[in-house]
Amino acid sequence: MHLKRVLCRNFRNFDEIILDLNSNLNIFLGDNGQGKTNLLEAIYIMATTNSHRSSVCSELINWKKEEALIQLLLERREGNIKLAMRLDKGGRRVELNDNPLDKVKEMVGYLNAVLFSPEDLKLVKEGPSHRREFINLEISQVSRYYNHLLSKYDHILKQRNNLLKSIRDGKKSSENMLSIWDEQLSTIGAKIILKRIEVVDKLKILARLSQRQITEGKEELEIEYDISLDGFSEKMGEAELRGLFNKNLKEKREQEINRGYTVIGPHRDDLILKINEMDLRKYGSQGQQRTAALALKLAELEFMKSETGEYPVLLLDDVFSELDSLRRKALINIIANKIQTIITATDGENLSGLKNNSYHVYRVKEGKIKKRG
Ligand SMILES: Nc1ncnc2c1ncn2[C@@H]1O[C@H](COP(=O)(O)OP(=O)(O)OP(=O)(O)O)[C@@H](O)[C@H]1O
Ligand SMILES: [Mg+2]
Repeated sequence: MHLKRVLCRNFRNFDEIILDLNSNLNIFLGDNGQGKTNLLEAIYIMATTNSHRSSVCSELINWKKEEALIQLLLERREGNIKLAMRLDKGGRRVELNDNPLDKVKEMVGYLNAVLFSPEDLKLVKEGPSHRREFINLEISQVSRYYNHLLSKYDHILKQRNNLLKSIRDGKKSSENMLSIWDEQLSTIGAKIILKRIEVVDKLKILARLSQRQITEGKEELEIEYDISLDGFSEKMGEAELRGLFNKNLKEKREQEINRGYTVIGPHRDDLILKINEMDLRKYGSQGQQRTAALALKLAELEFMKSETGEYPVLLLDDVFSELDSLRRKALINIIANKIQTIITATDGENLSGLKNNSYHVYRVKEGKIKKRG
């Protein structure tokens, strides 16, 4: 798939930009604070519905304006698709081929995108929430069903946590009601966990290959799904897993009431990353962690391709300056002529290896974008 056209109006520091993109490579050059990441952010929002750097919708609208618009024309194998998101004080509304969609989340799955930025080191280095988000976003983009399960799970979890707090504070004592929420949480939760395990099984093979490629065979990357339930075995089917989840909830009930929230479930699971059998998060060097973050992103590209039959659009925010020549080469080999890539950089120095493809170069300055040449 590739983006043919991008329009942003009153988004961040843009007044109005309209870009006709190259189906292969697009390079956006500009000094700090000019709008390069803003452009990638706008595109990424259309893939996932959320910004990777802000959860507050109003921050996305230009300070001097009341509403913003992002519009994309996307070429997929099935034909062209037009996507739009309108943002204002009331929130976000989305359109598919000029028709409004009921829910913002319904837009997920039309544009598939993988974003790689220096902050992705967090994926390897920091707490579990980054890895959960990685796996959730990755699966959501290729599975509407999973996306739906996640929304449902979040809803049940909120209700259950509210009830736990009420019981703790002596406002309600309905433990029967809690059992109903346990049932629902474990039913949806088991489905989510099984889907994640299935995807991690595919991802670990792809990521291992990427890691080997980048390190010329020196490093073996392993990924494991780290489940928060006691007594799990890989042979478990959905019914057994649901039963186990429910049993764990009963065992934790007292603790959960004391704390006022749910302490186990897919919202507490993690991925364990190891290099040559060593825990990467705890003991990995900066370079090893960076390589693994890149390997995970490359695995994500291949995973999406295998699920949808098409490569997603790749967004690279200022990453070339941080990669050494081996990693840069690995990335260039993957991209070469097959993945539409949108790259930002402060200067074009490290990008020379890429330019044997067909490409566009743009200059970004104070929220204005001009194509060069
Ligand atoms: N809601 C907004 N309205 C107007 N301007 C905004 C808004 N949000 C951010 N900006 C401006 O956008 C600019 C930041 O843009 P962006 O993050 O895209 O920079 P960049 O070109 O990626 O820079 P760097 O190279 O430092 O990463 C800042 O100057 C900021 O003041
Ligand atoms: Mg930036």
